[in-house]
Amino acid sequence: PHIITSPCIGTKDQACTEVCPVECIYDAGEMFLIHPDECIDCGACVPACPVSAIFPEEDTPAGEEPFIARNREFFGL
Ligand code: SF4
Ligand code: F3S
Repeated sequence: PHIITSPCIGTKDQACTEVCPVECIYDAGEMFLIHPDECIDCGACVPACPVSAIFPEEDTPAGEEPFIARNREFFGL
């Protein structure tokens, strides 16, 4: 799946939620997070985010790895 990383914190632009065809991006408090089992990896949210917070999990930038777990644990996975 795709994941949301640290630049979303304090930004929460929400443009990603408007383009996601399966509505799998949820408000998680200080940031939004993607439900890993609902994401279909379409990639539409990536260019929509003004702070480039979204990545395919396998392309997670260095230092952002903790957000892989965060995008899972929020949904009880
Ligand atoms: Fe939604 Fe597609 Fe982004 Fe997954 S990759 S969160 S399905 S817009
Ligand atoms: Fe966050 Fe970017 Fe979406 S700031 S809410 S991941 S558009």
